[in-house]
Parts: sequence; structure tokens; C-alpha cells
Amino acid sequence: MKIAVGADHAGFQYKDRIAQLLRDEGHTILDYGTHDETPVDYPQYGYAVGEAVASGLAERGVVVCGSSLGIAMAANKVPGIRCAPVDEPYSAELARRHNDANVLALSERLSGWEMIERCLRVFFEAPFDGGRHAHRIAQLFDFTDAQRERTLRAIEAGAVSDARTPKELL
Ligand code: RB5
Repeated sequence: MKIAVGADHAGFQYKDRIAQLLRDEGHTILDYGTHDETPVDYPQYGYAVGEAVASGLAERGVVVCGSSLGIAMAANKVPGIRCAPVDEPYSAELARRHNDANVLALSERLSGWEMIERCLRVFFEAPFDGGRHAHRIAQLFDFTDAQRERTLRAIEAGAVSDARTPKELL
């Protein structure tokens, strides 16, 4: 698989180790940096990996920053990206099975290396379950003005809790 990786200065050491681990498993890596401790802005690296995946240059992405949070927020700005910040394997599995996550965000400051390896293994092995999850993912990319109007009207009417999934889709 072609995998895009990127990190800021607080995540590049794990990013390099992750790239090597994935290469050893036979994957092709597109490395968008950064490559040293010189302070950089994490959004640029989240955007780069996000665009690589959204454009089809890469099938999946892995991003790393100090906490995993900022770079995940950046990657998720790119249309088509479903980036999940995770710090344990069960979240990594659900991110694939329920959310069809295409980018994984990891933390160099908060996660030990063994946990990182386990999260990666699950992320690249677990399938998307499809079925009832598919239309929910479609809704994530339907955040239009019309959707916002519907939500605001539902809030005003106190009807948000009635916005249930039709039974046949549960
Ligand atoms: C950099 O100090 C740090 O803020 C960054 O790596 C990340 O954790 C932001 O969300």
C-alpha cells in the first residue's frame, strides 16, 4: 500500500520510525517531513498528508505531532479525509470498522512506542464494516448550508433527539 506520512518537530522521530516499520512490511512511503527538531507548524504537515490521501497519491496516511490533536484537526480540514487521533488499539480498530478512517493521527509525547505499533497494526488490518455505517459517513461529507439550516431548525424546535436513523438502517 502507498502510505503518506507527516509530522511536526514534536512528532518526526516517531514518524521516521513508523515510516521504517511500514517500509519493512513492504509498504511504499511518501514522506512529507518534517525531518528535524526545528520548530514548524503542524497544520502544513496535516494538510500535505490529507491532500496526498484525498487526491489518491496515497491510499492511507499517518500523521504525528506532540499530542496527535492539532495535526488531526488539520488533516480533517481536507475534504474526503477521515482522520482519527488514537492512543490505544481499540479506537484504531473502531476508526476503521465504523468510520472508515483513512488517516491515523498519533502522539509522540503521550504514547509509548509499543502502543504505537499496536495501533498501526490494527489500523492497517481492520476492514471497514460498511452496512449501517456507510450512510453516516456520507453525512459527514454533506455538511452543507442546507444541513446546517436543518440542524439549527431542529435545535430550535428541540427535535435533535428525534433525528433517528430509520429502523431498516440500524
Ligand atoms: C508543538 O509544541 C505541539 O503543540 C504540537 O506538536 C501538537 O501537539 C499540537 O496539537
